[in-house]
Amino acid sequence: MASYSFQAENVQICVIMVGLPARGKSLIAQKIVRYLTWLSIRAKCFNVGNYRRLETAHPTAEFFDVNNSEGERLRKLAAEAAIRDMFRWFDQEQGVVGILDATNTTKTRRNWILDLCRKRNVEPMFVESWCDDEDLIMQNIMDVKTTSPDYVGQDPEKAALDFRNRIRNYEKVYETISERDLTYVKLINVGSQVIINRIQSYLESRIVYYLMNLHIKPRCIWLSRHGESAFNLSGKIGGDSDLSERGREYARQLPRLVKMSVGDRPLTVWTSTLKRTQQTAKYLPYRQLTWKALDELDAGQCDGLTYEEIENRYPDDFAARDENKYEYRYPGGESYRDVVVRLEPIIMELERQENIMIVTHQAVLRCIYAYFMNVPQDQSPWMEVPLHTLIQLEPKAYGTEVIRIKADIPAVSTYREKGQSAKIKK
Ligand code: F6P
Repeated sequence: MASYSFQAENVQICVIMVGLPARGKSLIAQKIVRYLTWLSIRAKCFNVGNYRRLETAHPTAEFFDVNNSEGERLRKLAAEAAIRDMFRWFDQEQGVVGILDATNTTKTRRNWILDLCRKRNVEPMFVESWCDDEDLIMQNIMDVKTTSPDYVGQDPEKAALDFRNRIRNYEKVYETISERDLTYVKLINVGSQVIINRIQSYLESRIVYYLMNLHIKPRCIWLSRHGESAFNLSGKIGGDSDLSERGREYARQLPRLVKMSVGDRPLTVWTSTLKRTQQTAKYLPYRQLTWKALDELDAGQCDGLTYEEIENRYPDDFAARDENKYEYRYPGGESYRDVVVRLEPIIMELERQENIMIVTHQAVLRCIYAYFMNVPQDQSPWMEVPLHTLIQLEPKAYGTEVIRIKADIPAVSTYREKGQSAKIKK
């Protein structure tokens, strides 16, 4: 993975999660990893529970009792193993942000981690999720914890009861973070209040900003390319052409398609500044916003050419793009990496908002989809995103669910496989 400008500071950060069980720590940790990875920043989560399960797969609440010295010993061993692997990853794989996903509820435990980080010159940053909203906690217990590997095969009611007792055991020793000399973010009731202390580096501030925008209200995001355009018909890339007749038909059918999926939920539609997305969204009866950041990848001097013309005129460029499509930048234009960088504010805003539909372009849609679905950079520019298809994304606790809804309106394929000569396609 190539380095990203955020790394100019050359920092390595250990994000230490803090909080009682069922406070959404793992979800937050995984989201940070996904966001940073999308921005090409090496990030990895080290979940202490996974290490603990290697020895103790199905513990009961007593295992987590402070007076259970064997439980204490095994839990400490698991934390040590996770931290050891994290430091190895920092050293051997040039890790940048390692996340230690555990409860880390006592000052003693946190001081121990602090010492280890300081000895290794790794910046410690605490992220505490503090929550006293009973509904949220209960929802988390039922949603996530009864499907946790700890309770596999057990009656969900019994599992929930045991899990509540586990939480009580943690509550007996829990000390919230208050040390003024530490770098920390405290998220209270999932972002309804955020306390920030001693944030020092740019990268830390990006993580904080991201965390401030998160919410966990149920919602969906709908993605669609614009309807088939005149340029699509002639195989040309870029430009600002109008929709074809079939593209206009898609625009006319889109309100029905969207309604079927959205129902009566409130929705806002975002389009690019280009005619083809605005013509596609024209009949959608929702508030609409236009974003320059949603414009198609700029093909620079190749704008308005067909793939075949590019292959004939610029054979080296054509081959270079196939070689590394994510990094390749059109002369005078953009690469996929450039598009991801300009989409960052879109992702932030998407995290803040509820139901949003985005009508955009092939490359941009791939980048947004890659963020939600955690698609690696070597694959994302090659994903097939057909025209006249509505994609529904529903973020859930452990991943995003996808539904594709195809409109029954034919369209050309604008997809060119890796290594395929543009000439063969004709
Ligand atoms: O062909 C449609 C299009 O949106 C072009 O405008 C754009 O250059 C291209 O897709 C991006 O896809 P790819 O990166 O696969 O060439």
